[in-house]
Amino acid sequence: MSAAYPVTEHVYDVVVVGAGGAGLRATLGMSAAGLKTACISKVYPTRSHTVSAQGGIGAALGNMGEDDWRWHMYDTVKGGDWLGDQDAIEYMCREAVPAVIELEHMGVPFSRTAEGKIYQRPFGGHTVQFGKDPAHRSASAADRTGHAILHTLYQQCLKHAAEFFVEYFVIDLIMDGKTCRGIVAWCLEDGSIHRFRAQLVVMATGGYGRAYFSCTSAHICTGDGNAMVLRAELPLQDMEFIQFHPTGIYGAGCLITEGVRGEGGYLTNSEGERFMERYAPHAKDLASRDVVSRAMTIEIREGRGCGPKKDFIHLHLEHLDPAVIHLRLPGIADIARIFAGVDVTREPIPVLPTVHYNMGGIPTNLHGEALAPTSEDTERVAPGLMAIGEAACVSVHGANRLGTNSLLDLVVFGRAAALRAQEIVRPGAAQKPLPPSADDKALARLDHVRHAKGKLKTGEIRLAMQRVMQEHCAVFRTAELLDEGVRRLDAVASSTREIGIGDRSMIWNSDLVEALELENLMAQATVALRGARARTESRGAHAREDFPKRDDQNWMKHTLAWMNGGGEVELGYRPVHSFTLSNDVQPFPPKERVY
Ligand code: FUM
Repeated sequence: MSAAYPVTEHVYDVVVVGAGGAGLRATLGMSAAGLKTACISKVYPTRSHTVSAQGGIGAALGNMGEDDWRWHMYDTVKGGDWLGDQDAIEYMCREAVPAVIELEHMGVPFSRTAEGKIYQRPFGGHTVQFGKDPAHRSASAADRTGHAILHTLYQQCLKHAAEFFVEYFVIDLIMDGKTCRGIVAWCLEDGSIHRFRAQLVVMATGGYGRAYFSCTSAHICTGDGNAMVLRAELPLQDMEFIQFHPTGIYGAGCLITEGVRGEGGYLTNSEGERFMERYAPHAKDLASRDVVSRAMTIEIREGRGCGPKKDFIHLHLEHLDPAVIHLRLPGIADIARIFAGVDVTREPIPVLPTVHYNMGGIPTNLHGEALAPTSEDTERVAPGLMAIGEAACVSVHGANRLGTNSLLDLVVFGRAAALRAQEIVRPGAAQKPLPPSADDKALARLDHVRHAKGKLKTGEIRLAMQRVMQEHCAVFRTAELLDEGVRRLDAVASSTREIGIGDRSMIWNSDLVEALELENLMAQATVALRGARARTESRGAHAREDFPKRDDQNWMKHTLAWMNGGGEVELGYRPVHSFTLSNDVQPFPPKERVY
């Protein structure tokens, strides 16, 4: 195979795949520590999906009222419906404060209070004193916080002479038994194939929102790293937990930040009722996302949706001072104008719950090390492999992520991975050569897809998959719906045998890239649906109408999903960490979630 595809070999201490917030923070830490680090990305780094994060990054800075990282931790445990690992959540919420100050010192242009402190807005599920009142915890740069952070991190990486391989599509991991030894990548610009050998490979490849028809995710969000891990016969964790953001623009799916509601915006149904007062009398529009998305879905189902088809909800901010909108929410004012034709100072935005985030991913410990759990050792590390950001399941978000905890997860665990790498990677240490066949499997797969002559276009199969996920694995689920979803998705997956590629070249072959991405999406959709079917309880974003209660007795455990070479899925489980790291905080025992 290598004869058909000449391979250029590179040797690095560490290879980071993905250049979003997590990948860049890890690359920065590793490069600055003297590790020879390559960051490989299928897009130019500042086009990574982190750029579109809007509302802010959570940290108990206490700039606009009293706050405490323990309150942040409690909110995160509760928001995740007690599926999150409390040791990791403790680590994240405690580290949040120095992490945001570090970003400020790196140059992130945060919005400011009148006294010059970082501006912090309220966000869903974030409270002070263990649920008493809303917290001002989201440190924001207007409503373009991800943009500000991503650009700053990239500048910092350049300052530390990090090496980037831009517009390289990573095809697969190179495994040596159970140890990861590198990756195989395709340079989209000139068509060449590259093998990167490394002591450590870090997956920072983001989520797989594009498995759905309507999502806030960019087209690049195909969860490539997750699929590579499945192909390496390692498991993914908690894939059934898929977050719907309450306020995606009706039709277009673009995100309208929860920061709108943080600044005083609210939702109404067709009767003009602020219905969240019924569903979450205390937190109202600032309840956690799973709660708000379910409430909106019920309103629509019961005939109180807005518009001629009664199929969306109104988000109001026209009562806010236009000066506040221009200062704090300029981005969404533009987005609403372009994608909904709405002037937000005069009329409400039509919105709908839209797929936004994957709580599941590659299981890791809080150092970012990927796990290969067995029944004897549920914490066993997969040598040579790390995962961070949305690709990872640490698990700090449990069954439902709180807004602002995603940007936080990126920088805290990007840094944690860099710190761990400094302990386990010896700069310049000799790496044993790989056999010439090391990349055969990856290249055979590439070659097979490239020369596929079937009658179906990638876009047709992708659309069929997205429709199945949208109809069968959405806000509310039942056994019947999920069973039918599994049956329909298997049929769609089988149809990939009929795929045909119209372009056989290796240079900027977007047809081939999309076909490879489709394979990646399909594998993740397959395990997500099966995990959802097996979990006979409701928890966080996984709402089973046939099992409406949370069942801690039987289901307070993480789902693991492996896929064999034939595409068959095996499920297993591992315990949730209901313990803390230090005596500074005690674990929060499970209780009913009331907002
Ligand atoms: O609504 C938002 O601005 C999204 C933030 C997040 O997902 O953390």
